[in-house]
Amino acid sequence: MKILITGTSGFLASRVRAYLEEDAAIEVLAPSHAELDVISLDSCKAYFDRHRPDALIHLAAISDIAECARNEALSRDVNTGGPVRLATCAKEYGMTGRFLFASSDQVYSGTKDAGRLNRETDPLSPENLYAREKLEAEERVAAILPSACALRLDWMFDLKPGKANYLKNMIRSVREQRPVRYAVNELRAQTWAGEVAAGMKTLLFSDAPGGSYNFGGPASGNSYETAVRVYDLLGEALGMPVRGLAVPGELPVPRSLAMDQEKIRSVGIRFRDTAESAALCLEKEAAYLDDIR
Ligand SMILES: NC(=O)c1ccc[n+]([C@@H]2O[C@H](COP(=O)([O-])OP(=O)(O)OC[C@H]3O[C@@H](n4cnc5c(N)ncnc54)[C@H](OP(=O)(O)O)[C@@H]3O)[C@@H](O)[C@H]2O)c1
Repeated sequence: MKILITGTSGFLASRVRAYLEEDAAIEVLAPSHAELDVISLDSCKAYFDRHRPDALIHLAAISDIAECARNEALSRDVNTGGPVRLATCAKEYGMTGRFLFASSDQVYSGTKDAGRLNRETDPLSPENLYAREKLEAEERVAAILPSACALRLDWMFDLKPGKANYLKNMIRSVREQRPVRYAVNELRAQTWAGEVAAGMKTLLFSDAPGGSYNFGGPASGNSYETAVRVYDLLGEALGMPVRGLAVPGELPVPRSLAMDQEKIRSVGIRFRDTAESAALCLEKEAAYLDDIR
């Protein structure tokens, strides 16, 4: 099976690529940005024409919320236009396998109730441009290719070399013994990228209905409570004191990015909560711990 993955020079797609390449039955097609530029329909069509992928995991994007705000036209062209062009190609070329693409828990950024678990069917009013682009992509792709799955990803982490993330930031705060504030009026989860890659493979080979999926772990407490649990794990992993490093704080307005798990569990995918996911990451990627300074 030939699976096209976009964005493989980036964080998530490079992890998903490595995970899928462990399976000898899968051939991963991993074009660079120059080889497949998602802002060009001609580029997308030329790639499909030449390589005829059986399935597609689209992870290329302008993923930085601030960058989207700085460069509205380009980010819309990539973040909404990209999935739409690829869905158009998948339909036109009769791609038989699944089309999975990245959306974001930011689509829930309008939820002001810090106790709420957001469901896929909830009415949405996202607060930032990036999230509005993702939501529009979900809607337009569903109209073109109803079998496509939009994955509402939370803020993912791992320990491998690459950009900063939730867990790496905490590790640095432990090493520097620098306290960090975490909101008591915020509900959200963070998930190890390794779990997300495994979940994508499961979904890829499932007969789950198309549509939008909450694709990250459950929130088991507010952000401060979660951070205390993760710091405890890091204290053990690093052999350093962690007491008092998580400081309770408050957002000016409460919010919840927390994702209800019912739909994703109904297709056989069960994500761990943030602390459990961090524990698994620390176990599987312990070799990288010393490199994080
Ligand atoms: N990271 C997270 O925690 C997180 C959370 C929620 C959702 N997401 C979503 O998950 C997906 C992956 O995120 P990420 O953090 O892995 O992103 P990333 O590290 O910023 O990587 C983005 C990738 O997209 C490529 N790209 C950008 N514009 C392109 C274009 N016009 N044509 C082809 N490729 C292009 C980049 O290639 P070049 O560098 O060569 O330009 C890079 O490989 C994104 O859709 C993001 O919005 C991520």
